[in-house]
Amino acid sequence: MWAPLRDDLRRGRGGGPGRMAEPGAIVDAVGRALGGGGALDGARVVVTAGPTREAVDAVRFVGNRSSGKMGYALARTSWLRGAEVTLITGPAAVAAPYGVKVRGVETALEMRDAVLAEVGEADVAIHAAAVADYRPVSPSADKIKRGVAEEELIVRMVANPDIATESARLMKAGSVSAGFALETADLVERAGEKLAAKGFDLIVANRAGEADAGFDTDTNRVTILGRDMPPRQLPLMSKFAVAGSIMDLIEDRLRQGGRG
Ligand code: PMT
Repeated sequence: MWAPLRDDLRRGRGGGPGRMAEPGAIVDAVGRALGGGGALDGARVVVTAGPTREAVDAVRFVGNRSSGKMGYALARTSWLRGAEVTLITGPAAVAAPYGVKVRGVETALEMRDAVLAEVGEADVAIHAAAVADYRPVSPSADKIKRGVAEEELIVRMVANPDIATESARLMKAGSVSAGFALETADLVERAGEKLAAKGFDLIVANRAGEADAGFDTDTNRVTILGRDMPPRQLPLMSKFAVAGSIMDLIEDRLRQGGRG
């Protein structure tokens, strides 16, 4: 068997003499063997995906509707283009893409630690996770029982650190940082503000509350903004196709020397 393909399949899950690799793994390993040679070939890519869960008590948490599909599509596309990919993911509803290194986390603080440990060496960081902006100040070790409050139960929350902003400061010269903006209104304007505030080179704006885009859909409708680039509105596409368009722009930036 062709050596790069054989090595990729050996590195995969559930390998062993005589055991056939999963068909999806074979397709992706062939895709990677044929698809390298671009700016991502051999690059280190860190992708965040999925939701975070912030404990309220022993059994309840504050979370969101992220399935992980958008981030997983980006991780898969990066791997198919020859990158070494680390996927840092909250509890997601989809299977991990073949070939990528997966670090599972639950809370925003765990995701922050995992990301900050990786981004200093990364050529590309992509922040697709839906990170909770706040977490309960003192989660109860026991299950909160009905009756602790007559009418209202007030849970005090504290702000989580901004992972993207902290990691932008650690990224090396020549690298590229991309993020997402999930908005219900003023999509492009707010995304532009986040592009600057969070130190991204590119930001992908998408809407919450649409039936065929945003959370937990197989498709997405995005506008991509970049420094020195007019907003680029893409039509409704599969998340895998959206990931391809994002990675095309990231590859362009890598070729142009990334951030200074
Ligand atoms: O997972 P899916 O079901 O496929 O859905 C995909 C998605 C809608 C989750 C994805 O496309 C998306 O928009 N992800 C970002 C969601 C989000 O949290 O957006 P935001 O506008 O609140 O955050 C802006 C950026 O800052 C994001 O890159 C986010 O990862 C990052 N962030 C936010 C808060 C925080 N504490 N730390 C961060 O790094």
